[in-house]
Amino acid sequence: MNPWTVVENEWDPHRANYFETLFTVGNGRLGTRGSLEERHTGSLPGTFLAGVYDAFDAPVVDLVNAPDWLVTEVFADGTRLDTESATVLGHRRELDLRRGVLARETKFALPDGARFVLRTERFASMADRDLCCLRVRVTALDRTASVTIRSGIDGHRRNLERLPAYPEGTEFGYDRKWDKWALSTHLRSTGTGFVDGVGTLECRTIDSGIDLAYALRVELSGIPERRVEQRGHESITVESEFALAPGETVGVDKFVGIATSRDPKAGAAPADRARATVARVADLKQASAANAAAWQRLWSASDCEVVGDDRVAQALRFAVYHLLIAADPDDPTVSIGAKSLSGEGYRGHVFWDTEVMLLPFYLFTQPRAARALLGYRHHTLPGAREVAADNGAPGARFPWESADTGREECPQYTSDGSGRFYTREEELHVTADVAYAVMRYAEVTGDDAYLFTEGAPILFDTARYWVRRCEPEGAALVLRTVMGPDEFHSHVDNNAYTNRLVRWHLEQAAAVHHRMATEQPELLAAHSESLALSATEAEQWLDAARRLRVPVDPDCGLIEQFDGYFDRTVVPITEWDDNGMPRFPAGRDHLTCEDTSLVKQPDVVMLLHLLPEEYSLDTRRQNYAFYEARTLHKSSLSPSIHAIVGLQVGEADAAERYFARSAFVDLDDNQGNTEDGIHIAAAAGTWQAATHGFGGFQATRAGLRFSPVLPSSWERLRFSVCWRGRRVRVDLGHQDARFELIGDGPAETITVWGDPVRVPPNEIVEVRAPQSVVS
Ligand code: BGC
Repeated sequence: MNPWTVVENEWDPHRANYFETLFTVGNGRLGTRGSLEERHTGSLPGTFLAGVYDAFDAPVVDLVNAPDWLVTEVFADGTRLDTESATVLGHRRELDLRRGVLARETKFALPDGARFVLRTERFASMADRDLCCLRVRVTALDRTASVTIRSGIDGHRRNLERLPAYPEGTEFGYDRKWDKWALSTHLRSTGTGFVDGVGTLECRTIDSGIDLAYALRVELSGIPERRVEQRGHESITVESEFALAPGETVGVDKFVGIATSRDPKAGAAPADRARATVARVADLKQASAANAAAWQRLWSASDCEVVGDDRVAQALRFAVYHLLIAADPDDPTVSIGAKSLSGEGYRGHVFWDTEVMLLPFYLFTQPRAARALLGYRHHTLPGAREVAADNGAPGARFPWESADTGREECPQYTSDGSGRFYTREEELHVTADVAYAVMRYAEVTGDDAYLFTEGAPILFDTARYWVRRCEPEGAALVLRTVMGPDEFHSHVDNNAYTNRLVRWHLEQAAAVHHRMATEQPELLAAHSESLALSATEAEQWLDAARRLRVPVDPDCGLIEQFDGYFDRTVVPITEWDDNGMPRFPAGRDHLTCEDTSLVKQPDVVMLLHLLPEEYSLDTRRQNYAFYEARTLHKSSLSPSIHAIVGLQVGEADAAERYFARSAFVDLDDNQGNTEDGIHIAAAAGTWQAATHGFGGFQATRAGLRFSPVLPSSWERLRFSVCWRGRRVRVDLGHQDARFELIGDGPAETITVWGDPVRVPPNEIVEVRAPQSVVS
């Protein structure tokens, strides 16, 4: 197995939607699902542009399924070369993770037996995020034929709205299941046309009023019999017809420029910018080379390599690939939805996933992207202020589900209306999660300029929200009617995760305020003026932090997940699925675990993960064991966190199982819903479980620490981390560890297996594992 590629070896329509997700190509600005260029019955194509949301015709705002730049049809003597009109003799696609290129080769036969090979190659350029490229080649194997290639832009796109209620258990075949969905329209055509051989398709999102423009340039390979430009109301196409001799190959190279009126660098009209994008490309060779070079730079910072286990190595690279195509370091107004830009799942909404699960990967490998992701929360502060105001509080409260404005976008009901969610009202912890991310970024990068300019208003305005949200109970403060990360339990009081993180948040806000009073008084005065902060507010934050109740059992250090949790019915977990993951006990499901102590995903364990230094090893061990026995892992965010904390408390076997569950969640489709999009939080959790878990990597105020304990099948684990503006290359084995600090400046002291090690710049330092680790 080549750990740099993911391969599809045969055409199976039942697996096609899954491969559409896996084979998404992208560049952080856009993602395009891996649909066949000609599509198939039951296909679920999609191109998603970061930040392009619209609420028209839908109950909840959608990440718009934007015009499709791939669409291409090939006809041989009038027969369409697709999986239904012709016979598929062979089919292979390969996603090259190293260069972000999806290549395809399909051999078709016509009814008379004449064979044709269709080869394509596509990528969304990492070198120019406005550019997408597609190469199409057709070869006639047996006889002369007339071949027509129609390639263009399809602007007739709809988002899936919902599946109307059908009797329970109704199942549809792959070819009908999407047919059954209600659809919503988000785009109105504003024009199509061709000028000097270059086509333009323009449209506008109906509610949000974003202008989109696609420019199309098609270069022919071979001499056509004819070339025709066609424009429809919502499409543009270039059709070319060739006479092919046996063994001969013809084709097109397609360049598509995409621009929108919401692009941060917007200046000229989108159509002009899109046309300029395709005009500046010399040819596909040049565009491919630039793309490959950009990818090489990304991998040199972000690769996470496992030597000795190719399947795991591939899974990690696959995870990193998807993380790299999810973030745009040049756009601080967008964040990453729960399914990245790879599908319509969760309607493209942004959750705490970004700050808690995804951020570490970017922070340590692509800090510019991390900075942009935090920029999104700053950009959406006005929306967060509205959320607080809607809840009768001053300050800012980040929404549970966020899109373009920062206002709350979380639905209240299941799509058939039968179930009520309370996440929108109660999952308040996201606000403290954002504060946590702000502080982590500042700590790891040392970027005080960020902290004092954009970070501080986030910390201050959200701290102010918490002070109002807390209620007095005697001398203490409490947080009532909330939901922790464990979504099985709503309307709970004093969720330990929330209260502890809020306390931490309030303390950090006060500490930053204090630092600014001496280091940046003018900037502090400016924030105080714009936020109307009173002179005593920071004192109030500290006072609230001191009084806020954080439940811990005084005798044994067991943390009660919320008030009364220990009294809930204990329902034992008795069944596990093929991946070794718990099944719901009989009669229980997502909405019926309230009265039990069953937990959907780490809650107390997540707290131990985020604040490891605050809890003794013994406390962590006890709580991990207690909650592990009650956790059903019904979120893809869950297993990786259990792997990391499990490794810290010595549960290595369980950690390997949890790691595998996270690493293969999409490659093995082990949640059964990969077709909706990549579980991007699990991809980042997989990276965290490899580096923070098996690599024992921690970045603390005191510096970097590593205590690797690799699975027996891994020979080495290699990755890089950025720390305070420099990069450290890390190469870990069972008996040794090597470090190389890249860049000028003083030596770093790194703690390895508990001992301090001096690492001077640009020198490989090798450390032998102590006997206690080796034996
Ligand atoms: C999880 C949340 C998560 C969301 C989006 C839910 O199932 O419980 O923690 O934020 O999915 O990934």
